[in-house]
Amino acid sequence: MGSAKEISLTLDGKAVKVPAGWTLLQALEHFEIKIPVICFHGATTPEGICRQCVVEVEGRRTLLPACVTLVGEDMVVHSASERVLRARRTILEMLHASSDLSQSPELQEQMATYNADPERFPQARRRSAEVLDDNPFYVRDYEKCILCWRCVQACGDDLQFTYALALGGRGHETHIATFFDAPLPETTCVFCGNCVAVCPTGALRSKTEFFLEQGMDYDQIRIEKRKSRRDRGQS
Ligand code: SF4
Ligand code: FES
Repeated sequence: MGSAKEISLTLDGKAVKVPAGWTLLQALEHFEIKIPVICFHGATTPEGICRQCVVEVEGRRTLLPACVTLVGEDMVVHSASERVLRARRTILEMLHASSDLSQSPELQEQMATYNADPERFPQARRRSAEVLDDNPFYVRDYEKCILCWRCVQACGDDLQFTYALALGGRGHETHIATFFDAPLPETTCVFCGNCVAVCPTGALRSKTEFFLEQGMDYDQIRIEKRKSRRDRGQS
């Protein structure tokens, strides 16, 4: 690992050395210890929003999000203690109670792995929203949104620098929005598709995928897209 300063720590009982400045997630992945992530994506800046990557560090009162916590000298880290597993299971149960995760194979797999109970919070208020279909390229189906923030980052400083997407509302009404809820063609959106690519839940998906789900074939989709462009005055 070169001449960079190294940090000694223990990961699940194994004494290791890693470069200073690494996150716990980097260290765990380097030693092939797999932990789940949701808001983390290799193309966007880690923000520590979802807490699904938490690990237990001896001497620390709270569980720590591995994607934003730097390795520290003599840390003793447990990536799959009972407390950690319970926290991850509860996060999945809360997400499942409030959003539609049916089009997220990644989260479905985590639900199974952590034995999450889909009925744990039957009284929870679910996110409810009409599918927003205001452009020829992709739909926004925010009932499936888990507010992971990845699309906003991809639209902004991390990839595209267009800033068409942002957070709107407060508390339970918090949602991903455009400024003044304007239709996407009236915003700075350039339809690069980066937001769709990083969305983990299918809340953002291509028009083609959306139409296929509606039972259309490719010829019908082509006609529908042409019509949509004509209606919006695009060639
Ligand atoms: S739309 Fe997708 S990427 Fe954006 S915050 Fe919601 S789940 Fe995350
Ligand atoms: S993956 Fe680390 S906090 Fe979301």
